[in-house]
Amino acid sequence: MAVKTIIKAISLFVMFMIAHNNGFGQTYAKQGMVVCDNTVASNIGVSILKKGGNAIDASIATAFALAVTHPQAGNIGGGGFLVFMDSEGKSTTIDFREKAPLLASSDMFLDDEGVLVKGSNHNGLKSVGVPGTVAGLYMAHQKYGTLPWRDLVQPAVQLAKDGVVLSWTLAEHAKKHNAGDYPQFLKDYFKNPKGELTEFGELWVQQELATTLELIRDHGKDGFYKGSVAQEIADFMKANGGIITLDDLSKYEAVERKPIKGTYKEFEIIAMPPPSSGGVAVIEMLNLMEQANLDSIPFNSTAYVHLVAEAMRRTFADRAEHLGDPDYNLDMPLDKLISKDFAKMRYENIDFNHASISDSSKFGQLYDGKNTTHLSIIDKDGNAVSLTYTIEQSYGSGLGSPHLGFIFNNEMGDFNPQPGYTNNGWIIGTDPNVIQPEKRMLSSMSPTIITKNGRPYLIIGSPGGRTIISTVFQAILNVIEYEMSIEKAIEVMKIHHQWMPNELVFENDLMSPDTQKALTQMGHTLKGRESLGRLMGILCLPSGVYQGASDSSSPDGGAVGY
Ligand code: DON
Repeated sequence: MAVKTIIKAISLFVMFMIAHNNGFGQTYAKQGMVVCDNTVASNIGVSILKKGGNAIDASIATAFALAVTHPQAGNIGGGGFLVFMDSEGKSTTIDFREKAPLLASSDMFLDDEGVLVKGSNHNGLKSVGVPGTVAGLYMAHQKYGTLPWRDLVQPAVQLAKDGVVLSWTLAEHAKKHNAGDYPQFLKDYFKNPKGELTEFGELWVQQELATTLELIRDHGKDGFYKGSVAQEIADFMKANGGIITLDDLSKYEAVERKPIKGTYKEFEIIAMPPPSSGGVAVIEMLNLMEQANLDSIPFNSTAYVHLVAEAMRRTFADRAEHLGDPDYNLDMPLDKLISKDFAKMRYENIDFNHASISDSSKFGQLYDGKNTTHLSIIDKDGNAVSLTYTIEQSYGSGLGSPHLGFIFNNEMGDFNPQPGYTNNGWIIGTDPNVIQPEKRMLSSMSPTIITKNGRPYLIIGSPGGRTIISTVFQAILNVIEYEMSIEKAIEVMKIHHQWMPNELVFENDLMSPDTQKALTQMGHTLKGRESLGRLMGILCLPSGVYQGASDSSSPDGGAVGY
């Protein structure tokens, strides 16, 4: 009897989930779908699709909603990248990466001896890059949107004004980041009417953010880069040691760029070119894997992990050496890096029995945490958007003007901080990514669309700093090569290797002790980590049905379809 009751309860629960399509587990839909780090925002995106908006419209509304509900990374104070493929198969990208302020310089984070002042590039207002998000979303709308701009911003205004119920995840996260001597702004940011930190389950109202969003709603891009918001940003910077001026803000432009494209077997990869390294690196890794006969290499076997790690090691070395802002690096060998010939040459020197050497005498870079956020969207006509944006670390610089209600990024930390100096740990000093006024810092964000026969097949992306590239690459491989469902492709064991530090990072509990032992014997230095990436993906099944999933490491995230 008890067993029957449990089974009935489980099936009722499953039916409820399916009927409400509310974002847990794997979701199926026929008309359209939004997958992102917060189900409230996914629902807003879907409501735009239901009103007849296209994937671009939905991405704009979802991104603004995330700026309210997911402040760890959702933002108007940061930047990112959008990859778009329309229903006719045409594709493009929008680069809204932050820029170094006009007053920035290559030695701005160095002491008198020319040595990096530890942490200075990630802390304080000098770590803030000129924000690009509002310009990028506005450009996307001007070029490819269909519904009125104000209808896309209004849902976020309403959310900020009416308040959202603070989830357990966000409440806990916020508490952690308000600990110790974390900047005052974050303490105030999560305040409830009694002046205390808003608790789990309480309504969290953001009146100042609502007012800023209203100005953006009514004046478009100018509502942020000109007028009272811009003035307050500039005043706040000046009063508190920042260097962003009115000039920086009025000069900021998003850029439409040609996507970088590659192939993997019969699939096409449409991805973000520099200033993100994501597209180049994902394509280079896939090209390397294409050289192998994966039919004979079981998923998650020692041979598989070794090969994937070696593909990553080589790609990250190339990334460190060559990539930066294309407007300042006119001679980057992009065609070479994504060519099959280059992959063949790179593949040929892999030793299948031993780990290669990461010679750190030249380059190295740290892998990062998870606070960036990705959204994958498809609409009823097959228009697809893959968008990743960030304020760099969780809650960015943790600073902002109390009158504006949003958090500034600390993206200047993505530049190479000490020109010419590279160590065995995380510092890279190569030229392409050294700070220059108005330059965009190199990114790893990898919003990607994979197509088959000219139609969207997989829309995927993730946060995670440099691990973004590795997790997106593996999710693609999982779906194409190992024929996994989207949920499985997101959840199964992933690894990361970024050349320097010379460590093979893996997800604890997901790699067998035998494999760990074998890899160690081959010369790899293993490092376990709770999880890697936080993938958000949509797989377009041959039947025309969309299958979506958000990573289980994002408890507030959700795939919502209709
Ligand atoms: O653009 C980048 O590659 C980084 N700023 C992304 C940061 C991220 O994913 C979160 N980790 N710190």
